[in-house]
Amino acid sequence: MTQQQCVPSHVAIIMDGNGRWAQHRNQIRAVGHRAGLKAVRKIVTYAASIGVKVLTLYAFSSENWKRPSTEVSALISLFIYALNREMKSLNKNNVRLNIIGDISRFSNHLQNMIINAEQLTKNNSGLVLNIAANYGGRWDILQSAKKITEQVVNGHLTLDDITEERFSLEMSLYNLPEVDLVIRTGGDYRISNFLLWQIAYSELYFTDILWPDFNPSLFDEAIKAFNTRERRFGGIDDKEQTC
Ligand code: FPP
Repeated sequence: MTQQQCVPSHVAIIMDGNGRWAQHRNQIRAVGHRAGLKAVRKIVTYAASIGVKVLTLYAFSSENWKRPSTEVSALISLFIYALNREMKSLNKNNVRLNIIGDISRFSNHLQNMIINAEQLTKNNSGLVLNIAANYGGRWDILQSAKKITEQVVNGHLTLDDITEERFSLEMSLYNLPEVDLVIRTGGDYRISNFLLWQIAYSELYFTDILWPDFNPSLFDEAIKAFNTRERRFGGIDDKEQTC
């Protein structure tokens, strides 16, 4: 990383390509997911070291339940394994872990692990690591709409109280800096129901690299590309743009 580069505060990643990575090696897809976890470790460590404040990773989408049950089980087992194995080291490195998504569909065991992990790290002041698990951008907007509607029905809010700011308060990531950069590996050019509301003004970066092959120097490439973008947030003047 050169000194002049501006490091985005919040980076979100769609980690795609694990299955193909494994297939290219004549291995089952779960092998690709395990290799993907190794890449997660490297990127989390590197992102924290260069001053990224928030990293949000798409680990399991609401649509991933449609995959064969063996693959769903492998992904959930890997999540449990990662929580068991990495919690101490994340905590020691001052990382605050947050899971976003509808965790009610997971087993009680996994839900408890998630709650304990969040509890253990909640006072850490270093990198905020959000793992999106059973997450969908549409689900997120809908759950916010339901909470707001409930408050209108109860008389705690009026229709005029419903502003973008008020709505955002009910969305995942509401208390964190805006997403500056979305990276998608694996060669597809879409968002796949990841953060929708939250990426309205994010820069998007797509690469053909399969997720298990993604590494710190490729992360630097994405940041370099981010630094070439002119962010206007809907306005016309970027003179005010700061890092
Ligand atoms: C997409 O690749 C990746 C996933 C659905 C899962 C991502 C999971 C990990 C990187 C490992 C676990 C991470 C944590 C934080 C526990 P794909 O299977 O769609 O690949 P393909 O497009 O090549 O089929």
